[in-house]
Amino acid sequence: MTAPVLVTGSAGRLGRAAVAALLGAGVEVRGFDRRPTPGLPGATVAELTDAVAVREAVRGTRCVIHLAAAPDDAKYPRGDAPDDGDNFLSELVPANVVGLYHVLEACRTEGVKRVVLASSGQVVAGDFHDHALPATVTALPTPRYLYACTKVLMEAMGGVYARNHGLDVLSVRLGWCPRDAGQVAEIAAAPDYQDVYLSPTDAGTFFERAANAAWRGHHVVYVTSRHLRQLCYDLAPTARLLGWSPRENWPTGAEA
Ligand SMILES: NC(=O)c1ccc[n+]([C@@H]2O[C@H](COP(=O)([O-])OP(=O)(O)OC[C@H]3O[C@@H](n4cnc5c(N)ncnc54)[C@H](O)[C@@H]3O)[C@@H](O)[C@H]2O)c1
Repeated sequence: MTAPVLVTGSAGRLGRAAVAALLGAGVEVRGFDRRPTPGLPGATVAELTDAVAVREAVRGTRCVIHLAAAPDDAKYPRGDAPDDGDNFLSELVPANVVGLYHVLEACRTEGVKRVVLASSGQVVAGDFHDHALPATVTALPTPRYLYACTKVLMEAMGGVYARNHGLDVLSVRLGWCPRDAGQVAEIAAAPDYQDVYLSPTDAGTFFERAANAAWRGHHVVYVTSRHLRQLCYDLAPTARLLGWSPRENWPTGAEA
């Protein structure tokens, strides 16, 4: 019997998709989230800043899919509205910096070799402004706002733990899997966003492959569903590494 896979952020949009796909593939799954995980009653309910809880959740697993995070800039001053503050110190640093450190340290000290880190296509936002599409996995980081800066750090820290501690680390620059009806409406109104859409089913099959396929080393890949007009991210390295390609396109699954 193989060891379980831990999904952090298991109660979230992508976490639930990952958990469902892993369970569907017969994988034993553990969850970790600050709120209870639907369908996974044994999931740990704790904060990422709780190093002891993170380490206990990681112990005895064979792979950690790290999705828990503050998932975007809440009120980053964009210059088009009164500056009412941002969530960098209150949310991004505790979850996306301190929490990330606890997860990687727990993997190192508990001997968990395989880690999948949820980065974002927002780390190469500048390529969109420059129309340098599709963005490649070697494109220099041009993060959108401070949330994306935490994802640049995530990729860099993943590289450190791979090179210095022998972990196998896959940083995945995810497309847009909408979390609520407002985000679905935003994507529906903008053809550009439809090309970076990520359906929950495509996300789930990707995370199942990331947990189970035979890969080693340190990699950065993109994951979106199929584009309708413009290919925005180079998905060829994802297919080569994992044998995974998207099956769906906007708007399949968006309302689910
Ligand atoms: N959904 C997207 O379009 C998208 C795109 C790019 C990257 N990502 C990344 O993918 C990951 C998952 O995103 P999502 O859309 O599922 O977000 P989500 O907000 O739906 O889920 C995140 C989950 O993490 C949990 N969480 C947040 N902070 C926590 C903390 N400090 N301690 C414990 N649990 C905490 C939340 O309770 C939530 O259930 C995130 O890292 C996000 O940055 C998402």
